[in-house]
Amino acid sequence: MKMMSSTSLKSISLTLLIAILAILASKHPRSHPNMNPLTSIKYLFDVGLATFSSPIISSIIDRHHQKKRPDHKRKKGSICDDFPRDFPPPDTNTTSILCVDGNGCCNFTTVQAAVDAVFNSSQKRTIIWINSGIYYEKVMVPKTKPNITFQGQGYTSTAIVWNDTANSSHGTFYCGSVQVFSDNFIAKNISFMNVAPIPSPGDIGAQAVAIRIGGDQAAFWGCGFFGAQDTLHDDRGRHYFKECFIQGSIDFIFGNARSLYEGCWLVSMANPVAPGTKSINGAVTAHGRASKEENTGFAFVNCTIGGTGRVWLGRAWRPFSRVVFALTTMSDIIAPEGWNDFNDPARDQTAFYGEYNCTGAGANMSMRVPYALRLNDTQAASFLNVSFIDGDQWLQPYV
Ligand SMILES: *[C@@H]1O[C@H](CO)[C@@H](O)[C@H](O)[C@H]1NC(C)=O
Ligand SMILES: *[C@@H]1O[C@H](CO)[C@@H](O)[C@H](O)[C@H]1NC(C)=O
Ligand SMILES: *[C@@H]1O[C@H](CO)[C@@H](O)[C@H](O)[C@H]1NC(C)=O
Ligand SMILES: *[C@@H]1O[C@H](CO)[C@@H](O)[C@H](O)[C@H]1NC(C)=O
Ligand SMILES: *[C@@H]1O[C@H](CO)[C@@H](O)[C@H](O)[C@H]1NC(C)=O
Ligand SMILES: *[C@@H]1O[C@H](CO)[C@@H](O)[C@H](O)[C@H]1NC(C)=O
Ligand SMILES: *[C@@H]1O[C@H](CO)[C@@H](O)[C@H](O)[C@H]1NC(C)=O
Ligand SMILES: *[C@@H]1O[C@H](CO)[C@@H](O)[C@H](O)[C@H]1NC(C)=O
Ligand SMILES: *[C@@H]1O[C@H](CO)[C@@H](O)[C@H](O)[C@H]1NC(C)=O
Ligand SMILES: *[C@@H]1O[C@H](CO)[C@@H](O)[C@H](O)[C@H]1NC(C)=O
Ligand SMILES: *[C@@H]1O[C@H](CO)[C@@H](O)[C@H](O)[C@H]1NC(C)=O
Ligand SMILES: *[C@@H]1O[C@H](CO)[C@@H](O)[C@H](O)[C@H]1NC(C)=O
Repeated sequence: MKMMSSTSLKSISLTLLIAILAILASKHPRSHPNMNPLTSIKYLFDVGLATFSSPIISSIIDRHHQKKRPDHKRKKGSICDDFPRDFPPPDTNTTSILCVDGNGCCNFTTVQAAVDAVFNSSQKRTIIWINSGIYYEKVMVPKTKPNITFQGQGYTSTAIVWNDTANSSHGTFYCGSVQVFSDNFIAKNISFMNVAPIPSPGDIGAQAVAIRIGGDQAAFWGCGFFGAQDTLHDDRGRHYFKECFIQGSIDFIFGNARSLYEGCWLVSMANPVAPGTKSINGAVTAHGRASKEENTGFAFVNCTIGGTGRVWLGRAWRPFSRVVFALTTMSDIIAPEGWNDFNDPARDQTAFYGEYNCTGAGANMSMRVPYALRLNDTQAASFLNVSFIDGDQWLQPYV
């Protein structure tokens, strides 16, 4: 999806990026076999990463700095000193653990190699434990491999990063740094990033997806999603996001899934707009429900919206687009009209755009488009908890 706008936050994020890489470097003297930390920074600039951009991240970095590592027995001088001896543990009847470490301290050095080692159609859960570090690779989890968990070490210290665009990969649908086609996928405490150059106004083919989630019953806990245009392709199936950080500019959460986002931070990195101007340069969501027979939609509960630019809460990528924001705090980056029909007035009659008990300067509904719905308690009820995604049937608690 394209829009007339663009982004650039390079100056702010430079500092944060360096801070993040400094942490990685201090934990792992060589966080990539062929790269010292300085080369990594250069690489990231080369590919255009400048998108870590939030006060939330900087506060987490501060906390991270204060944390002390547990004192394992150490052999001085080896990269793998800090690595637990008997890891991964042997399989149990219900779980296998595969270990990924960029320095080669355990079986796999890439996430994809670990995914490749998982058996087809395994009914057991396979936990792919991924050590801190930035993994520069494009990852695909095929339909044949359900029940995989990606377990990172925190969304500011473990990331899978690539830089395909719609142009470089036969379209937006195939440019995800990570693409998940299997069911019952889980990710915990890890980031997914696309570091392709941030599009300039009017650019064509610069969409850059961080992750495409195309399987059913997926859950994301404490994850980060970083990109600009089209960051999170919430494609299809029932999905749950808890306390995730999601950054982007245009349509940065898009797709036709049925998803519940709880306690997430949605951060716009659209260009700042001059006060008094009316220009709008981004959208948080672009949900793609095509008919009223579909039960898809995005529900955001207890989330926080902030960042830069002036953005719509959603625009109607397809006619029956369905999005609800409930109990969410919105900063003044939200355009007063709130929603957009994608230049098709017929969609005003078919889109379902609801707001319920939101707060903050951006939540003032007095100037909203006429089709924006102020939901009452009854109308809001089915969007407020995991029963919206049938979570009572499949969603496991965070352990
Ligand atoms: C695992 O499976 C084996 C073989 O079916 C069984 O003997 C064993 O008791 C099981 N272990 C546990 C912990 O359930
Ligand atoms: C992982 O490495 C250990 C030895 O360190 C080996 O016994 C085990 O078979 C390997 N597992 C896989 C899945 O390659
Ligand atoms: C897994 O399934 C795929 C697709 O059906 C097949 O190409 C592949 O050979 C299978 N792998 C194994 C190890 O059976
Ligand atoms: C594994 O995946 C299958 C198919 O997606 C699902 O029915 C099953 O409940 C999953 N098992 C576990 C342990 O998550
Ligand atoms: C991704 O980054 C590599 C390495 O800097 C570069 O060669 C490639 O052109 C980039 N791809 C895109 C689509 O920007
Ligand atoms: C994508 O490809 C089109 C057609 O080749 C070209 O006009 C456009 O500039 C490219 N976009 C980017 C961001 O490279
Ligand atoms: C992992 O994510 C959970 C769920 O959001 C969060 O409570 C926890 O603090 C995170 N842990 C780390 C190490 O980031
Ligand atoms: C709302 O989300 C925040 C995290 O962003 C969490 O600390 C708080 O407990 C949540 N409140 C409710 C009522 O779920
Ligand atoms: C939403 O606001 C209404 C009116 O202020 C209040 O009665 C209701 O309890 C609120 N709902 C929730 C879930 O906080
Ligand atoms: C909402 O916006 C209208 C129009 O801009 C303004 O008159 C009103 O005071 C605002 N309400 C609140 C609660 O800020
Ligand atoms: C909520 O709104 C619906 C649809 O407009 C209406 O039928 C219903 O009576 C309202 N319920 C309450 C409790 O206001
Ligand atoms: C979730 O909301 C539904 C209303 O749609 C309600 O019937 C159900 O009791 C709620 N479940 C929980 C766990 O709060």
